[in-house]
Amino acid sequence: MKQVYISQHPLVQHKLTVLRSVDTDHRSFRELVRELALLLCYEATQDLSLSPQQVTTPMGKAEGFKTEDTIGLVPVLRAGLGLVDGVMELLPSVQVWHIGLYRDEETLRPVEYYNKLPTEPTVNVCLVLDPMLATGGSAVATVDILKKWGVKRIKYLGLIAAPEGVERLSTAHPDVPIHVAAVDEKLNEVGFIVPGLGDAGDRQFGT
Ligand code: PRP
Repeated sequence: MKQVYISQHPLVQHKLTVLRSVDTDHRSFRELVRELALLLCYEATQDLSLSPQQVTTPMGKAEGFKTEDTIGLVPVLRAGLGLVDGVMELLPSVQVWHIGLYRDEETLRPVEYYNKLPTEPTVNVCLVLDPMLATGGSAVATVDILKKWGVKRIKYLGLIAAPEGVERLSTAHPDVPIHVAAVDEKLNEVGFIVPGLGDAGDRQFGT
């Protein structure tokens, strides 16, 4: 079963619209990516595990909770880097495990170039961070790597998806929820999301 969550939050939709604009400069683009990551992370983490925790307030004891999960962020280099800071504002104690993949411009297939995961998994939940889910090849390859590493719960957090990418990721990994700000119309003939926002890596890093 597909698990696709498109944020309906007004702030997400407003910021996404500014992000898409050809008139948005690199600095504003990076700031918007950070803010969108924070907002989407808030929605994507609503089912984290809690355990009871008592706390002492200035007035006495209160029953509360603490989060139980050990969370790993997995930004896909390089465009995923821009999502890390916003997510870490909400989850300051997470581990960050970078995965380097680039999309071969002709075949559109992902090519792995960086992976320093240790042998044994050190987290039980992973958030894959990548702004664009286009053909879905990079996302599927990243989830493949994380499952092989032994991670039990994996979520995908991105900004814009193409229907083709959603289909591919949810077919290959139906257990992985997809959290995005929008699912756009289609992929064009060179694998870019339309209308999308252009190349998320280039727009963040001025290349
Ligand atoms: C982009 C994007 C994803 C991938 C999506 O990265 O950030 O990682 O393409 O495409 P897919 O769903 O068809 O695999 P790109 O290869 O341009 O590398 P970059 O982040 O280094 O710019």
